[in-house]
Amino acid sequence: MLEIHVVQRDNRHLYENYFDPYFRLRHDIYVKQRKWMALDRPDGREIDQFDTEDAVYLFCLDEAKLIGAMRAVPTLSPTLMSDIFPHLSLRGPIRRPDVYELSRVFVIPERRGEHAGPRIETLLLTAITEYGISIGLNGFSIVLEAWWLPRFERCGWKAHPLGLPRIIDDMSVLAVLVDCNEATWQSLCRQIGRTSPILTWRGLSGVNRQLLPDISLPQPPAVQPTQ
Ligand code: COA
Repeated sequence: MLEIHVVQRDNRHLYENYFDPYFRLRHDIYVKQRKWMALDRPDGREIDQFDTEDAVYLFCLDEAKLIGAMRAVPTLSPTLMSDIFPHLSLRGPIRRPDVYELSRVFVIPERRGEHAGPRIETLLLTAITEYGISIGLNGFSIVLEAWWLPRFERCGWKAHPLGLPRIIDDMSVLAVLVDCNEATWQSLCRQIGRTSPILTWRGLSGVNRQLLPDISLPQPPAVQPTQ
């Protein structure tokens, strides 16, 4: 069964066994497959300066195997946008208590493009929206490649550009701010056929958070009796 776990400073000790495979997967995906050679490290683990105690990870687990993940970093801490790509945001990097920066979203190759159920990637977008609402966020900042924009549009994520796209290492890259609100979350839940929150908050009972309600799926239109 698929589960999406919130992993952060307070419960990281419960997931310590996952971190080595997680950083190795990142190396396989970003360095070996995507050829982002600036992220290469001799130990075969892709770890950067934003993997700090402030980082929050969503781990998508299937029968305890890590099959996808995403990272969120508070924008009051150093972020990709503040430290590496400040020129992508016309008004300067976002630093707001109610906005986290998303990065390193991936699904392992053998689980991409699944059509038997909702895509793992859509589950991750739903899960991070649920996370954001739960802790009172209003948005996510992201430095991304332009090909994400139609994907966000299709799933109902409203992405506001913060500047013009620039070509960086042959990629068209821009900075956006994505709305995080309950309407978006409910719409995503409907797309993936869920009526209840998806996240597992193991070991995080001390975290102050809003509990999200179950939602109702639209009913199929009533069949009119034939004469
Ligand atoms: N450039 C352009 N388009 C890309 C792309 C890339 N590097 N990676 C994926 N896409 C597009 C595909 O063309 C495909 O389009 P289509 O559905 O219209 O045919 C679509 O995204 C689906 O991608 P796919 O990989 O088959 O499945 P997915 O939706 O399950 O997973 C990702 C999408 C991004 C999660 C997955 O491709 C992945 O993990 N990639 C590696 C990590 C990564 O690059 N993350 C983004 C930067 S942090």
